[in-house]
Amino acid sequence: MRTAFFALAFAALAAATPTSTPKRRSLALSPAGTSTPPSKDAFYDAPSGFQRAANGHVFKARPVWTPFDSEASAAYQVLYKTTLATGGDAVTAATLFAPLEPVSPPRIMVLAAPIDSACRDCEVTFVLHNGSKSNATDFLLKSVAIDIFAGLHKGWYVAVPDHEGPNAAYIAGVQEAFGVIDGLRAMLNFPNILPKTDDYKAVIHGYSGGAHASAWANQFLPTYGSELNVVAAAYGGTPVSVSFDGLASISGGGSFLFWGALVGLSNAYPELDHFIRHQLFPNGTEAFEAARSLCNTQLGEYLGDKSLVSFFRNGAKTFTFSTALKYSKLGQLGEPVKKDISPAATTDGIVRRPTLMYHSSTDDIVPYAPVPAYVESQCKQGAKILFETAPGLTHTTAAIMWTADAYNFLESAFDGKLKLDKCQQKTGITTELGTDDFVAAIGQSAWNLIQSQMQSAS
Ligand SMILES: *[C@@H]1O[C@H](CO)[C@@H](O)[C@H](O)[C@H]1NC(C)=O
Ligand SMILES: *[C@@H]1O[C@H](CO)[C@@H](O)[C@H](O)[C@H]1NC(C)=O
Ligand SMILES: *[C@@H]1O[C@H](CO)[C@@H](O)[C@H](O)[C@H]1NC(C)=O
Repeated sequence: MRTAFFALAFAALAAATPTSTPKRRSLALSPAGTSTPPSKDAFYDAPSGFQRAANGHVFKARPVWTPFDSEASAAYQVLYKTTLATGGDAVTAATLFAPLEPVSPPRIMVLAAPIDSACRDCEVTFVLHNGSKSNATDFLLKSVAIDIFAGLHKGWYVAVPDHEGPNAAYIAGVQEAFGVIDGLRAMLNFPNILPKTDDYKAVIHGYSGGAHASAWANQFLPTYGSELNVVAAAYGGTPVSVSFDGLASISGGGSFLFWGALVGLSNAYPELDHFIRHQLFPNGTEAFEAARSLCNTQLGEYLGDKSLVSFFRNGAKTFTFSTALKYSKLGQLGEPVKKDISPAATTDGIVRRPTLMYHSSTDDIVPYAPVPAYVESQCKQGAKILFETAPGLTHTTAAIMWTADAYNFLESAFDGKLKLDKCQQKTGITTELGTDDFVAAIGQSAWNLIQSQMQSAS
């Protein structure tokens, strides 16, 4: 269902993008059209001495053509300074977009994409430019396209970071948080896209794997991003609990997400990597490497209906060993993260920005069950969360149905009109799909894309 949805949407995206030359006259350089993947592209390499730079410092930049040219006055890839989950210095990339008609003072959306892969060549900056031969394209591009069009339409600057960092640390929440937060700093540090930062406001947005990164960034803002003016966050289909226990029972369908997560966490934490490698049968080692070289759905095909737990010498018992438990614990959103495991910054696990969370109670991919308890626990600790739920939607459909609510929420935060003094819960979606209000909330290009995707999927 999910694969088909995004594959069919590809044609829709092409159709929604005008062929006229974009308004990008101010660029001196001609945009790069490289189809060289990040692992072979020197642009992604850290320059010497990068360790001395401040987080978010931009080392390199190049203009790129993207499928969003019709709604952007410019788009650049930048390479910026960030921090590894284990505390070391690192660089990662982001694609930064300037809208045709920027709102003043500037409004910035950091869009965390559902990269959902532990392979470096599946990261989102590579996907987002014309001529990219990324294997992730069919899946990832479609899911971010609606948001990029919507954000640009509203006159917002949009930053889409490779938040998994240089090691493709998928589901490593600490790494994702640093990648997202430094992605915002990179935008603030890059005048070619954002000429003046005075009185800027920023928001964070993402769905599914992108919601995971957004939620982790949200809870790390008070420490790792304390100087940043982030006024709200909106995310849905959020994985609030990622534990290895699930691996024992998973096969088929979404197994690539679990396998990718285990490999992504191992990419972030050498101790876990070492532990896992010693636990695997040769077929497990092969599958481990596959997750590092294949994008999400490709990995799904590779895994087929193989039993993931049969890759391990100790079977399900593997996940009861102390190293496994240590990192499994790190998969719980809202739990404090201390200095021993995250030396660069800690978190008490509480979000302190007004936040919209949305999740269908019948989500078929990311479990709904742990979400209400997470929200309740946050609210008890003083978080301000608007939690919207509705029955009857799949994971993919819910992303579409809540689009207008998400943008209305973020816009009222930008406008300073958000009334969320304490937590609120709501059943149902406020702005219904296809109404004039829905289209107005996201703009015509995003709406065209949704319409074609729905036609293709039905
Ligand atoms: C980039 O791709 C979009 C659609 O995918 C297309 O409309 C646009 O013309 C392309 N830009 C260039 C310069 O090739
Ligand atoms: C895409 O996948 C194919 C098949 O696994 C692989 O040979 C190719 O190198 C991949 N391309 C990129 C850009 O990752
Ligand atoms: C992996 O190898 C082990 C040991 O040879 C075997 O028991 C298991 O069934 C294999 N798993 C898969 C999915 O092929």
